[in-house]
Amino acid sequence: MQKYMKCLLAVAALFVSYAGQAQQMDGLVADGPALYAEYCAKCHGKNGRSNTFIGLLTFSQNLTNAAWQAETLDADIYAAIAGGRRMMPSYADKLSVVELQALVDVVRDLQR
Ligand code: HEC
Repeated sequence: MQKYMKCLLAVAALFVSYAGQAQQMDGLVADGPALYAEYCAKCHGKNGRSNTFIGLLTFSQNLTNAAWQAETLDADIYAAIAGGRRMMPSYADKLSVVELQALVDVVRDLQR
């Protein structure tokens, strides 16, 4: 019986530590394309060209524009997403640093 309890406790301890780790992992891995679809596509469009109704209304940046991509640093893109730009809302309080960085990568991928 004692042996059984020990085993049960060990399993419970393992489970608790695993659950703790899973919680810490939250926000450490980010699905950039899913985040883009959820937060950005309504203005910038799935393809980044911002040819959506809201995109046109808010004068959203065409993210596929080669000249804009060339003159823009990753840090500028990050700052725009974190802090907002004109009619674009800020996302610093909604998304983790890892998620913001994943979105920078998505924006970069739009030029290809
Ligand atoms: C409400 C519409 C709207 C939403 C939602 C939105 N944006 Fe924007 N975005 C804009 C507007 C407007 C601009 C500013 C255009 C300008 O600078 O003239 C902009 C600019 C940008 C820029 C260019 C900044 C620069 O340096 O020129 C990037 C990059 C960007 N958005 C990415 C995103 C990403 C990624 C998301 C999702 C997290 C997002 N946007 C969500 C409207 C939006």
